[in-house]
Amino acid sequence: MAIYQATASAPVNIACIKYWGKRDTKLILPTNSSLSVTLDQDHLRSTTTSRADPSFEKDRLWLNSAEEEIKEGGRLSTCIREMKRMRKEVENKDASLPKLSTYAVHICSRNNFPTAAGLASSASGFAALVASLAALYQLPASPSELSLIARQGSGSACRSLFGGFVAWEMGSKPDGSDSLAVEVAPREHWPDIHALICVVSDDKKGTSSTSGMQRTVETSTLLQHRIKYVVPERMEAISAAIRARDFDSFARITMQDSNQFHAVALDTDPPIFYMNDVSRAIIALIVEYNRVAVAAGGKLKAAYTYDAGPNAVIYAPKENLKEIVELIVKYFPQAEPFKDPFALFGGAGVQGRVVDGFNAAVAKPFSVGAVKGLIHTRVGDGPRVLGAEEALLGSDGLPK
Ligand code: DP6
Repeated sequence: MAIYQATASAPVNIACIKYWGKRDTKLILPTNSSLSVTLDQDHLRSTTTSRADPSFEKDRLWLNSAEEEIKEGGRLSTCIREMKRMRKEVENKDASLPKLSTYAVHICSRNNFPTAAGLASSASGFAALVASLAALYQLPASPSELSLIARQGSGSACRSLFGGFVAWEMGSKPDGSDSLAVEVAPREHWPDIHALICVVSDDKKGTSSTSGMQRTVETSTLLQHRIKYVVPERMEAISAAIRARDFDSFARITMQDSNQFHAVALDTDPPIFYMNDVSRAIIALIVEYNRVAVAAGGKLKAAYTYDAGPNAVIYAPKENLKEIVELIVKYFPQAEPFKDPFALFGGAGVQGRVVDGFNAAVAKPFSVGAVKGLIHTRVGDGPRVLGAEEALLGSDGLPK
């Protein structure tokens, strides 16, 4: 008996121009275009195995070993249904193909980073789901076509179908057929872009992106200004900066857009706060670090950005990462030694030094645990189809 199974992995992406607001909540159509950097799957990824079999009674999904309910009409069921529909089209054109579209599927997905880290896993998760089903069904679809389906799982997931620098074009059609991800530049164009993720501890249960952005759409007047006047211009300017490998412009726009996203969150009624004192202290450190560089006649050396939570992502050219890690560790002492995947410190520990001329008074040092982890990564590639040895489902079609 033939086994129909495929495994794929997909990356996390962190936006520089933020998606915040839907014009259609069912199809997940945004109120503005957005742009992100795909992070390296060597460090952060979701892996998914999908299998179709005539003996399976119903579609089932396991996430990090626990079974999740696939709710009728929910986002998961929509993505699976759309992928089966695409498979059906292929089967209709070639009668010799097995009728996989009529079989139920078992799907098993795992993240290689702890969910507790508060890193968005829905983007990599839905991208890996769509990539593994596309491999299972042998679909002739492009990443942009697959992004149309991942988008219906979670908006930001559509951008994880590409590596490098990715735009989600908002589109204008009511059916959403032109609201898709496109590559602005592959990672090979600008591999020097690295990222330091500062995992900030957070006790309170935050407002989810889905409900938060809907409240913003309903109540914020500032959002309307952002949609109409700010984002279109920024999308052009940051795309040009990426094409020109102009980090100074890239950084300026990224920080402005993070700030404006958090401003529209504050402009929501009732207001939404995603950043905390630790997040704001990291902003102060990056601002001062850049001030020193510019005062010496140079350009911006780092850019912060924050999503719907307190974690900071700091983008910078690789050559600056050592200084940035030193700076963060000085103010946010770490319980664990810095995992140094790029061997910046060559075995020597992080000293917690600041650059000459740095005004140490811009922030107060915090105690151990305020930043509970640092992840150094870089721009990465798009989804990968993996070999059978990486499968997450056993021969019985259940999680291994
Ligand atoms: C702040 O994609 O998680 O990270 O479409 O409702 O699933 P849904 O929302 P989601 O929102 C992400 C918001 C953001 C900005 C961004 O990634 O562009």
